[in-house]
Amino acid sequence: MKNVVWHHATVTRQRRNELNNHKSVVLWFTGLSGSGKSTLAHAVEEELHQIGCRTIVLDGDNMRHGLCKDLDFSDESRKENIRRIGEVAKLFIESGVITLTAFISPFKEERDKVRKLLANQDLIEIYVKCPISVCEARDVKGMYKKAKANEIKNFTGISSPYEAPESPDLIVDTDQETLDESVDKVLGVLINRGIINNAN
Ligand code: ADX
Repeated sequence: MKNVVWHHATVTRQRRNELNNHKSVVLWFTGLSGSGKSTLAHAVEEELHQIGCRTIVLDGDNMRHGLCKDLDFSDESRKENIRRIGEVAKLFIESGVITLTAFISPFKEERDKVRKLLANQDLIEIYVKCPISVCEARDVKGMYKKAKANEIKNFTGISSPYEAPESPDLIVDTDQETLDESVDKVLGVLINRGIINNAN
């Protein structure tokens, strides 16, 4: 940007990571509404907190009450939603925090843009996989019923597309695994990648 010069901090991400005794990363949960993204993200966060990690969950429903309250569910708004969350996640990684994002994030291109925005190893894409029939049967918020009755427009999986990840870092099948099993799979990736260690 013209006439704006980046100021370099002396307290760096690396120094924050050393202080925290764990690295920072983004766990990007993507999947249909009702697939279990928020439930899983919060359950993983709980485990991480208990072992002394610094964490934050950025949740689609919550962010749309604040930072993204000007956005609707058109394709353009969803793209802008994901762009903003990518930028916020980047700030949180810099601050040393393990960042868990729970957004439908239906478009592959927008998820790929976030991957480019962050360093490749800073993003762990987790596909929270669940057949739409199961999401519909769960219908925790009663939204599938409304979407099918055409009371909600552009509803993901009904009247708006969901592009499943082709090569996510991890797939959790929430209709086949228990929550504990899914949490363990996510924590396993963090250990394998050296984000957290046995001393945490
Ligand atoms: S995203 O597509 O832009 O990533 P986001 O995760 O922020 O979506 O918000 C999804 C949540 O908004 C859903 O869990 C649901 O509760 C609510 N919602 C309201 N209207 C819609 C809609 N048309 N499509 C999908 N979700 C909707």
